[in-house]
Amino acid sequence: MGLDLLYQQEIKAAVASAYEKIAAGGGEPVARRLYSQEQLALVPTGAIEWALGVGNPVPHADLVPGETVLDLGSGGGIDTILAAREVGPQGRVIGIDLLEEMVRRAEANAREAGVEGWTEFLRGEMEDIPLPDESVDVVISNGVINLSPRKSRVLAEVYRVLRPGGGLCIADLTVEEDLPPEILTSDSAWAG
Ligand SMILES: C[S@@+](CC[C@H](N)C(=O)[O-])C[C@H]1O[C@@H](n2cnc3c(N)ncnc32)[C@H](O)[C@@H]1O
Repeated sequence: MGLDLLYQQEIKAAVASAYEKIAAGGGEPVARRLYSQEQLALVPTGAIEWALGVGNPVPHADLVPGETVLDLGSGGGIDTILAAREVGPQGRVIGIDLLEEMVRRAEANAREAGVEGWTEFLRGEMEDIPLPDESVDVVISNGVINLSPRKSRVLAEVYRVLRPGGGLCIADLTVEEDLPPEILTSDSAWAG
């Protein structure tokens, strides 16, 4: 086994443990800040309860009926469900998440939303997307890529699964200045 010089396994374990431990997402206060009233009317309460994103990617993704969409780090499924409304039953939306609990939660929310027929949730890692090459039209993601210690690898995987001419629309955090060592080495800062 190679040396984990960049502490990638440790960071992944810290992120997984942080999201395993939380009892709920941001709930209505977060969801109301990020999503419109019209969007919130289209998703069940469970998905709103578990909203953990930092933005609202779906309206910017220019989705059209029939497209195949991948939601990286789908959590409770709020954006996956909104994307499923846009692409309709002729399309397909796949959410992937590191955690089995999130996958089960999102499946229940998609069922309640009535979009389960064309929505699928897989346990998987964005650094190793469990989908074939050139199988997706649009990749969306909300507050997830920042959690990866291997961001270039995530983008390489996105490129691999996208069909030629496909789209990427993400909401995420960026850092514009060097962070102090106590933040760079803090597990909760990585996970949060
Ligand atoms: C900040 S939450 C965002 C959830 C969702 N996108 C939303 O907007 O509510 C981050 C999610 O990414 C998942 N996650 C973290 N690292 C991941 C990885 N390497 N691959 C796939 N999912 C990951 C977590 O389990 C969690 O559900």
